[in-house]
Amino acid sequence: MDSFEFNKIAGSVLGMLLFVMALGIITDIPFARAKLAKPGYDLPGATEEHAAAAPAAAEAAVPFPTLLASADPKKGEALAKVCAACHSFEKGVEKPTGPNLTGVVGREMGSTGFAGYSDTMKGMGKKWAYDSLNTFLTNPKGFVAGTKMGYAGEKDPKKRADLVAYLRSISPDAPPLPN
Ligand code: HEC
Repeated sequence: MDSFEFNKIAGSVLGMLLFVMALGIITDIPFARAKLAKPGYDLPGATEEHAAAAPAAAEAAVPFPTLLASADPKKGEALAKVCAACHSFEKGVEKPTGPNLTGVVGREMGSTGFAGYSDTMKGMGKKWAYDSLNTFLTNPKGFVAGTKMGYAGEKDPKKRADLVAYLRSISPDAPPLPN
């Protein structure tokens, strides 16, 4: 290899090194500008989530009796299609998967001829009222520990109010609506 050839190779190696160095400096520029005021990651999701949580919290602040007063039993009937997988909403018609729900508002808890009640439900010793139905349907396991009702609960308070309004419409002994 003559010295001219060697210079060509050395030159190109040097050129490459310079290019890589320059690239490093150039690509650093945007990051240098974006230096954060506080160390750590700036998560845009956090503020979005906060904004989305705000209306839900405002909704939960509406008391259940108020929601119930303007609830729609027809909407509740449509929502109760989910419940009808296990429950009968027809007087005298029994299902092996859940107690009949006609007349449930104002009825003693766990008191129909249904054979599959949990011991907890049978031992509640109270009548179903609007507030207890609301609590039970929000989180069945939270209200009746060890309940045999395989349903996770309805988290939307408006939908729960519609459901309870429907149950009221098929319960002749239902107490008057709370104020
Ligand atoms: C997967 C089946 C299933 C679904 C779905 C279901 N339930 Fe139930 N439900 C049960 C069973 C089983 C019980 C008895 C629970 C116990 O004894 O612990 C029960 C109990 C109840 C009771 C108490 C009845 C009584 O006689 O004391 C009410 C009220 C009730 N369910 C309402 C509903 C509503 C409203 C829905 C729909 C939003 C629903 N359930 C969905 C199975 C179900």
